[in-house]
This record gives sequence, C-alpha cells and structure tokens, in this order.
Amino acid sequence: MASYSEEQGEDYLFKIVLIGDSAVGKSNLLARFARDEFYPNSKSTIGVEFQTQKMDIGGKEIKAQIWDTAGQERFRAVTSAYYRGAVGALLVYDISRRQTFDSIGRWLNELHTHSDMNVVTILIGNKSDLKDAREVSTAEGKTLAEAQGLFFLETSALDSSNVTAAFQTVVKEIYNILSRKVILSQEHKKQESWMGNGKTMVLQGDASETEYHQSRGCCSS
Ligand code: GTP
Ligand code: MG
Repeated sequence: MASYSEEQGEDYLFKIVLIGDSAVGKSNLLARFARDEFYPNSKSTIGVEFQTQKMDIGGKEIKAQIWDTAGQERFRAVTSAYYRGAVGALLVYDISRRQTFDSIGRWLNELHTHSDMNVVTILIGNKSDLKDAREVSTAEGKTLAEAQGLFFLETSALDSSNVTAAFQTVVKEIYNILSRKVILSQEHKKQESWMGNGKTMVLQGDASETEYHQSRGCCSS
C-alpha cells in the first residue's frame, strides 16, 4: 500500500544526535538499530558519521537521520555543526561506569547551548547486560530523567534490549509535537476564516508544548 505521506508528497526527515562520554556505546546503539550489528571491539568514532533509517510511525514513513560523533573532545566533529537542526537527542551513559553518568549534566548543557531547548531528549543507560558490573541503579537514572524532563530507558546494544524502543520513543514524540502544531494551526485558520480574515498562520513552537513534554516525565517500561 502506498503510504499516506507519499500520496500527499510529504516527507519527514528528523535529525537526531547521539551524545555522551567515550565508549558508552553510542556507535553500537546506532549499528544495532540501523543494521542489527554489534562490534565487541569497536574503536572510538573519528569525526562524524550518520545513518538514515526509515521508520513507520502510525502509518507514516519517517526518516530518522541519526548523527554519531566521538565522546572524546579531540576526536569530535565541530560542535555547532553537529547540533545544528537537531530535533531529537539520545543522551547515553554506561550503567557500569558512574563517571559517564556524572557527565550527563555537562552534555545537557552543551545540548542546550547548541540546539533548541525543545529538542526531544531521551536519557539512556546503556550496557544493561552488564548486571554484575552495575554502578548506576535504574532508580538513579529515572530520577535524573524526571528532574530534567527527559524520557528514560536502559538499553543493551549487545543483547538488543530496548534499542529500537529508544529510537522510536524519540521519533514518535517529535512526530506528535509536529502533528499538534499542524492541528493547532488548522484550528487557528478555521477560527480566522470564521472571523472573516484570511491571514495565514505561521508554524511556531509554543510554550504550552514545552510544558506538556516536560511534565510527562519518563517512560521506562
Ligand atoms: P566513542 O566513539 O569513543 O564516543 O565511543 P562510543 O560511545 O561510540 O562507544 P562504542 O559504541 O564504540 O562502544 C565502546 C565499547 O563498548 C565497545 O567495545 C563495545 O563493544 C562496547 N559496548 C557497546 N554497547 C554495549 C552494550 O550494550 N553492552 C556491552 N557489554 N558492551 C557494549
Ligand atoms: Mg563511537
């Protein structure tokens, strides 16, 4: 069946960035999600890589363009270019290394400095398979996510758990926000034509949507 978006000539491309300390598993989360692959001995990413993945969200075809760079400063892509235009972010730490959890505040600052405050963000505790080496509890992750208004999931790129769910959570929420904007603009248009002036509504973010996103807290399953 031809998708609705094709018929309507609509095309959704969402830029999503992966961020977090070196070796938390950003590249492997992307490899698992996009190609169902895992590299036990992967090297640090150099520069920037991205992968475009088609996703079906409520019958619409959406392309997620997922960007990946090194966690370590000296290997990183130019920061401002990396974040430019991003509408979603996966902020990753390693549940077996507390230091990577302690860095989350710094990554959030960087994200908010270089991108829109409304960028849909999920906090990810990766390597949930390393049960015996755990240094950060699930409760701590959840609490931080709630305090910062982020979604939250623990994942494992090794055993695949929650990897697709993590990317889907972000893409779905971006799509929902976009849909609400379109609906709001259509309601506005209706009202205006009813009032007899034919002005066109310009699509913009609004504060109520930010509150909506931030008040819903985390979504661990
Ligand atoms: P940089 O590119 O340096 O920022 O690192 P990165 O965050 O991309 O980490 P990468 O994906 O390269 O993974 C680092 C190491 O952790 C590799 O040896 C992976 O095999 C391992 N790793 C990644 N994800 C998991 C996981 O879910 N479980 C386990 N046990 N190991 C993982
Ligand atoms: Mg990498």
